[in-house]
Amino acid sequence: MQTILPHGGTLINRLVNQAEAADNASVKKVITIDEWTLSDLDCLAIGAFSPLTGFMNEADYRSVVETMRLADGTVWPLPVTLAVDPLVYADIQPGDRVLLRGEDGEDYAVLHVQSCYEPDKEREARQVFRTADQAHPGVKKLAQKPGLYVGGPVQVLKRPRPKRFAEYYLTPEETRESFARQGWKTVVGFQTRNPVHRAHEYIQKAAMEIVDGLFLNPLMGETKSDDIDSQVRMKSYLALLENYYPKQRVLLAAFPAAMRYAGPREAVFHALVRKNYGCTHFIVGRDHAGVGDYYGTYDAQHIFSAFEPGELGIQLLFFEHSFYCTACQGMATAKTCPHDASLHLTLSGTKVRELLRSGKTPPPEFTRPEIASILIEGLREQR
Ligand code: ADX
Repeated sequence: MQTILPHGGTLINRLVNQAEAADNASVKKVITIDEWTLSDLDCLAIGAFSPLTGFMNEADYRSVVETMRLADGTVWPLPVTLAVDPLVYADIQPGDRVLLRGEDGEDYAVLHVQSCYEPDKEREARQVFRTADQAHPGVKKLAQKPGLYVGGPVQVLKRPRPKRFAEYYLTPEETRESFARQGWKTVVGFQTRNPVHRAHEYIQKAAMEIVDGLFLNPLMGETKSDDIDSQVRMKSYLALLENYYPKQRVLLAAFPAAMRYAGPREAVFHALVRKNYGCTHFIVGRDHAGVGDYYGTYDAQHIFSAFEPGELGIQLLFFEHSFYCTACQGMATAKTCPHDASLHLTLSGTKVRELLRSGKTPPPEFTRPEIASILIEGLREQR
């Protein structure tokens, strides 16, 4: 069965075979990469970041920061870069091959260095995050990185082994095969960094009414420290699917990347990545990938008007802020509910985390009881 084309037309696969690995055996120079960069490397390896074949060179980086496009004009909204310390940088030149070693001492890839450059990090922050405020978690992360980048294609020797739930770290090739096997012609992708609460469930199920399948693709890479732990979230997704979703209409898979909190730009990035996994549709609700008050409620929807629909190649499904209405006795949005806001139950993620931390169960109109107990249990174990 024909599936949707990946971004740029070709599904990238940077995992090497044995002969290619042997070819790299003589590489001596080493860059040690942190967990965050390792999760980007994994996405590059499996083609989740197609058409990227490695960490950005200077031309692509500058073009992405300024125009949300790679140097060849292909839409790509976020930098994917490799930052290195000055001492390491001094020893690397274009043309070098360098091992990318994890903090666990394992060699994960060989970088074929194309360019070594100094970014303007403040400019990057203002363009990508729309702020240079260090209180923004994405800006803070950027500021903490060394101020020198090296770029070039990677040859990936192996994928990192997740601590748990390894069977959910599917490649885009595998998810595409799964969609085709199940005969799904249309698939809606859902990004989340949170436990699925009733508003998520409402917009997912509204979308499921018009497509063949749901691709529940929670982000499993690094998130800010007060977000709920990815392992606990994974347990909650499994319990939710078991109890409230038709099995033959949902595929759950981990998205290995880290969270940037770049709001609008990250929404475009999330959509393109899900196209690579084989989705035809993608959900963007309120304040997608947002944090604090840095972005307007629907900025992450408005940004899509900067592109011609054909350039993205995936159909966006925009949803309004949804809530439980006590008068309607169901989930609704301002589009479907006539009642006063005082009759609406809207809890923020922060409020729910506060409830959970004090051992209180969030109301069933907000969180399914099975999920609430997993979250309370998870928080207790973490303490
Ligand atoms: S995100 O950082 O991954 O976007 P989250 O997991 O909270 O955060 O959101 C997942 C998706 O659900 C996003 O598209 C977001 O816009 C949407 N969403 C979250 N809460 C609501 C809500 N109450 N109403 C409508 N959409 C929502």
